[in-house]
Formats: sequence, structure tokens, C-alpha cells
Amino acid sequence: MCGIVGYVGTQTATEILLSGLEKLEYRGYDSAGVATIWEDEVNCVRAKGKLSNLRSKLEHLQSPAQIGIGHTRWATHGKPEEYNAHPHMDTAMRIAVAVNGIIENYSKLREELKQQGYQFRSDTDVEVIPHLIAQFLKEEIAFGQSNSDSVFLEAVRKAVNELQGAFAIAIISADYPDELIVVRQQAPIVIGFGQGEFFCASDTPAIISHTKAVLPLENGELARLTPLGVEVYNFAGQRLKKHPRLLSLNPMMVEKQGFKHFMLKEIYEQPGVVRACLEAYFNTDWHPGNSSRSPINIGLASEFYADIEQIHIVACGTSWHAALIGKYLLEQLAQIPTQVHYASEFRYAPSPLTPNTLTIGVTQSGETADTLAALAMEQERRQGREPKYQARLLGITNRPESSLGYMVSHMINTLAGIEIGVAATKTFIAQLMAFYALALDLAYSRQTLPLENLEDILKGLRQIPKEMEATLESQEKLTEQLAHEFAETQDFIFLGRGINFPIALEGALKLKEISYIHAEGYPAGEMKHGPIALLDAKVPVVAIAVPGSVYEKVISNAQEAKARDSRLIGVTPVKDGEAAEIFNDLVPVSFVDELLSPILTVVPLQLLAYHIAARRGLDVDQPRNLAKSVTVE
Ligand code: AGP
Repeated sequence: MCGIVGYVGTQTATEILLSGLEKLEYRGYDSAGVATIWEDEVNCVRAKGKLSNLRSKLEHLQSPAQIGIGHTRWATHGKPEEYNAHPHMDTAMRIAVAVNGIIENYSKLREELKQQGYQFRSDTDVEVIPHLIAQFLKEEIAFGQSNSDSVFLEAVRKAVNELQGAFAIAIISADYPDELIVVRQQAPIVIGFGQGEFFCASDTPAIISHTKAVLPLENGELARLTPLGVEVYNFAGQRLKKHPRLLSLNPMMVEKQGFKHFMLKEIYEQPGVVRACLEAYFNTDWHPGNSSRSPINIGLASEFYADIEQIHIVACGTSWHAALIGKYLLEQLAQIPTQVHYASEFRYAPSPLTPNTLTIGVTQSGETADTLAALAMEQERRQGREPKYQARLLGITNRPESSLGYMVSHMINTLAGIEIGVAATKTFIAQLMAFYALALDLAYSRQTLPLENLEDILKGLRQIPKEMEATLESQEKLTEQLAHEFAETQDFIFLGRGINFPIALEGALKLKEISYIHAEGYPAGEMKHGPIALLDAKVPVVAIAVPGSVYEKVISNAQEAKARDSRLIGVTPVKDGEAAEIFNDLVPVSFVDELLSPILTVVPLQLLAYHIAARRGLDVDQPRNLAKSVTVE
């Protein structure tokens, strides 16, 4: 996934582009570049690595240009070297493009263009685009009868009709110095409306400080931005009537507000996220006496649920861990058989078609290519079948305006607010809240849970924000000390059972992805079937031990680990007895019902990963090789 920013208006463009790219670095940071137009020339400056490298290249080039595009890259085709950085240009250096996405038919186009004399300078797939536009411009000027009053727009329109793949593109040309053309096909891009100035960006944080009036382009649309306004067309060239909407975001949401990293800020925002979800999803005044209606309001009509016989969930990474907890809740509370699939696996080996099946896609970004492709495959294979075999798609996402929003018939918005840190934290908590709401709503409508139990669970959920704040309060120092001790550790094992097994997986992933330490999560009962061979004094073990159905089992698994000289860290509300004897370090969490405990037990694991990575001096918000959403397969 890459980040694109564009500007046309009355201010100088470069600083607007750079500060916009800073807000998009979470989308990729292998290289960056900007292209502006001044005195009949395109001035294109690119740099390998972080945006700061580009900034230093630009600091003595004070360009007065008032139109430009910028790009920050997550490499897909072509190494993360400067010659592969965007913007890319045509042979004559008159056209510059910044692209987010993949051009699937690039090799065929590249060969055809080479035969027509176009010279390529990069190994990327997207470099075919400026050359294709140059070719159509030439034809347009020679023979064009275009009905649009922009030859440039018409040439771009014809060029993008030749492309196959998923892409968002921003394009400028020295021959049309007042026009910024923006294209969307699958990958997101929004237009920002200012006063006599217009913006485009892959995501709203890049432009929120300039305007809240935005218009997300839809698939198959392109727009022409000039200082006089915005025109939107479809790929067939028909003009479309579109109006911007006002964002509810405030610019502060994309600032660190005193925290060293966005990730730490977002960990501390989690109690507020739980409150927002409680407020939105649960009727707080419900009690069994007035149980004529469900205590849950997630906007899913009962006929959407009616006669569901099974559920399939597709997701990736942290969202896949949330899905595993969703499975536990849907099966234990609503008694619905539920299967969880890695989206990248499901699309090539889907489960057999079954009737009355709900398929859920969980993706905080709403742009993960594997998850979208798995849902598209599910939709397609059920197309045209008899009603009970037709697709019933539900999305759980933090970005309802994303591509996911165009694919599913029903959606649960996870209300976590923009998450900048590449490592998912508050969006994970919000996904859990969505699954509690969904499972309880289904349990209510199918009457699989006594109303008194339902009421107890609701009461317990209402306590979570306060308990989470207490946990955060008690954790900060402790996890910082532990981080000091473990900053140079090479391997970590995380153990959990039952509803906390996915939390062991999530704790391991957090540590891996931001500290680059090898870590694995296992069901505690699995250790004796092989992984225990890994243990010795150099391999610390984190065990999640929550009083309830599996507590004693986890304690005995911890004992087995201790007998192999591992250092034992216990995430548990228990402070005495066996826990105090066995664990070298007790990481306290507030005592809540085992069913609700994952919302709390993940917090110390997030903080442990954060502090270890910070102590190792790593870039916590933008870990190497990663991007906030993986829009490539
Ligand atoms: C989580 O910390 C990672 N950044 C990654 O595993 C992420 O969860 C995964 O790429 C899925 O992203 P999505 O929720 O946007 O689909």
C-alpha cells in the first residue's frame, strides 16, 4: 500500500505535499517523491527511504509551484531504490504520475510501448502509465474529437481504460499546468475541497488540516481538479454529479498529542474506544424485564440473521486473531458453528458451499487485498444460486468508506477512530467489541442464552473501560522494566488457552512486528507436543492465566515451562498462591469474567511489545517491511 497526495491552488504546493505525505507514511515508507510544475517544466525529486531523506533533498529547492503530486511507497514491483520511487514520468518528462496499487497487465503494455520507442527507467509495473498517457495525448492532439474540454483528461481516460488491476493515480502534465487528474479503480483516493484550492489523498489524515469537505472517488471514476473546481467523470467519459461531504474527524486525531509514538497514544485511547462501542452497540438501559427488544443495536435486521446455520470468517493478521475470539463467542454464546480462515488461504481452498451461511470479512483498513478477494470469491461462487445458498456478507471494519464498503450488504463500523500506528491496537479492541455485540445479538435472537446471563455479560462489559484504565495505570512502569530486561532477547513464547489462546497469538505478533524479535503463540496445552523443546533459560514464556475453566491447566503448563529453566511472566489477576510461586514476574490485570478477559489481557502484551521495540530504538509506528494495510496479494 502506498500514499498519494496532490494539490492545485494558490499556495505553494511542496510543503502541502510533504506534510500530507507525513500523515500517510504509515501506508509505506520505502521511498518518497514529489513532482511540481513551474515555468513549463515538471520538477521531480525522489529519495530512497524515509520521507526525511526527501525533505533534506528539497530544503534548498524553494519551488514556487502551485500544483504538484507526492508519493510515499511500499515496494511491490521493483526494489525500494530511488529509480523505482514515484512519481514516474514519460520519456519526454512532461507527465508525472503517483500510483497506489498494481497494474496486472503491465508486462504486455510495457512491451508494446517499448516497441513504439518509449524508454523505461524503472522496474516498476506502474511506469507504463505515463507512457500510455503520452501516447494517447499524441493521438488526441492529432485526431481527437473528445467531448471533454480537456484533451489531457481524455488522454488519461483512454489510458486507464487499458489498465487491468487495482489502482489509484494522481497525474500532472507540464502541457496542462492547471490540471490535476485523479483516478480510482479499487484503491482508495479522496478529493478535498478548499477555498480556490483542491487536494487529493489516499486517506483523509493527509488533508484534514486543510479541509473537512471531502469526496471519496468511487471505482471507475476519474476527476479533473483545477483552481476553478472539480469535475468527476466515469471511465466511459460521462460527467457525474457529485457533492462533497463533511468529515467528522478533527486534525488532532492525527497528531501524537504528547505521546512518543502513535502506537502508545492509540493503546491509551482504548478505554475510550470501548466506551464508544458500548454507547453505539449496546442499549445500556436494557434489562430482562423489558426484553421485548434486543439489548444490542448494530443495525442488522433480524431477517439478515434468520436461519443462519453456520458462519465463515475471513481475515488476516491481527484481524484474524480477533476473528478467532469471534469464533469462540459465536459458538459458545450463540451456538453457531463458526470457521475462521486466513483470507489468503480461503480464496484458493474455500470451504464447500453450505446453505444459510453468513460470511464475515474482518479488516480494520477495509483495503486488505486478500480479505477483499476472499469476499469477492465468496460472493461470486454463490451468485445465482437458490436463496438459501446465496451470499450473506457482513463487514467488520474501522473504515466504512473503504473498498470493503462497496462489497458487503451489511457492515459493523468499529468506531476506533483513525489508527496511524502500523501495529493494530485500538482497532483490535474495537473488533472484539463488535464480535461481543454480534454474538450477543445472535444469542438473543436465537434464545441460546438465558436473559440473566445476558444481563450479567452486559454489566461486565460496562466495567471494562474502568478496568482497562486501571490495567494501563498499573502496567506502564512494570512493562517498561520488563522491556529493559528483555530488550536483547532473541525468542519469546506466548501461551494461552480457550478464549485467551488468540491473545497469545496477538501478543506474539505485536512483539514480532515492531521489535523484530522472534515470537510464537501456542495453545498452552500444545507445548508438550513439540514446542517445549524450544525452552531453556534464554527463552522467556508469557502465560495468560485467567481464573475460569482453564486456569489450573495453564498453571500446570507454566510449571512445565519453568522446569525447563524458562523465565515465566504471568498475565493474571491472581496475586498469590501458585501464581506467585511459579511466575518470576506477575503482570497484573483487573479481575473480570473469563469471557470478557481478552479485552484486558491483550493490553499488557501490547505495552510489552511497545516498550521492548522503543528500548531497541526501532521505528515503532513504521516497522520495517510493513505497511498499515496490505493492498497487494
Ligand atoms: C497488525 O498489527 C498488522 N499490522 C497486520 O497483521 C494487520 O492486522 C493485517 O495486515 C490485517 O490488516 P486489516 O485489518 O486492515 O485487514
